[in-house]
Amino acid sequence: MFSNARLHSKIRLRVNRLMQRAINFARPAPSYRPFTVDQLLNNQASRDLIERFSDVYYKSGAPPELNWRGDTILKNPCDLWMIVELLQRIRPTVVIETGTHRGGSASFYADMLKLIGVQATIITVDLNPKWSFDPADKCIESIVGYSSDANVQNQVRSAVDRALVARPGPVMAMLDSEHSEANVSQELRLVAPFVTLGSYLIVEDTNVNGHPSSPEHGPGPWEAVDKFLAARTDFIADRECERFLLTFFPRGWLKRVK
Ligand SMILES: C[S@@+](CC[C@H](N)C(=O)[O-])C[C@H]1O[C@@H](n2cnc3c(N)ncnc32)[C@H](O)[C@@H]1O
Repeated sequence: MFSNARLHSKIRLRVNRLMQRAINFARPAPSYRPFTVDQLLNNQASRDLIERFSDVYYKSGAPPELNWRGDTILKNPCDLWMIVELLQRIRPTVVIETGTHRGGSASFYADMLKLIGVQATIITVDLNPKWSFDPADKCIESIVGYSSDANVQNQVRSAVDRALVARPGPVMAMLDSEHSEANVSQELRLVAPFVTLGSYLIVEDTNVNGHPSSPEHGPGPWEAVDKFLAARTDFIADRECERFLLTFFPRGWLKRVK
C-alpha cells in the first residue's frame, strides 16, 4: 500500500515526464545547420583556412607516418577514410592503383574489402614496388614497370579483364605514381575506360603546384584533371568527397556519371 504522499509524488513525476515529452515534441528544430562543403569552399575566409591547414599538414611530415599492419601508407587519414567510405558505398570487385610503394595502400584496400564482405582483386603498378609480404596472399596483382610503358599498360588491361571475368562488379581506380601532368594524363587515359558508372577515379596529390602546396612542383595532377574534365562529360569532380575538409586531392575525386 502507498501512503498518500508517495502516491502524489509518483503521479507528479509521471505528469512531469509526460509534459517534458510534449514539450520536446513541440519544440522547434535547432536553428543551427552545418555548412555544406560547397558553402565552405566558396567562402574566401573558410577556403583560405582549409588550404592553409592542408599546406601546414602536408609540410609537417605526418602523412608518411600512417601505417597499416607494418607497411607505410602515404596518405593523410582524412583522405584514407574517405576512400574507406567509397569502398563501402561502391563495393568494387576490382581496384586499380598506380603507385604501389610499400604496398600499404593496396594491402589496406584488400583488407577493408574483405572486412565488408567483398571479394576483390587489387591491381597495382609500380616501377619498383617494395613488398614486405606476398601480394598474391591478399589477391593483389603486382605489375612491375613504368605506367607509361605500352607493355605494362597491356598487362594492366588484361589483368582487369581477367579479374572482371573472375569477379564481375564495379571498378574503382586510384592514381598515385609519378605526379607530373604528362604522366597523370596518360594514366587517366589508361584507367578511365575501366571505371564503372557511379564509381570513382581518384587522382591523388592534386594539391601540388600551388593547389595549395609545393608551388615549385610544375604542372601536375591538378592540371591533368583540368584538361581531362574539359575534354569529356562522363566524369565530374565530386567535391562532396572533400567533406572532411583536409584533403590532398582537391578536385581529384572524379565520379563517373555517364
Ligand atoms: C606516392 S608513392 C605510392 C604510395 C602508395 N600508393 C601509398 O599510398 O602508400 C609513388 C610510387 O610510384 C612509383 N612510381 C613513380 N613513377 C612511376 C611510374 N612512372 N610508373 C610506375 N610507378 C611509378 C614509385 O616507385 C613509388 O613507389
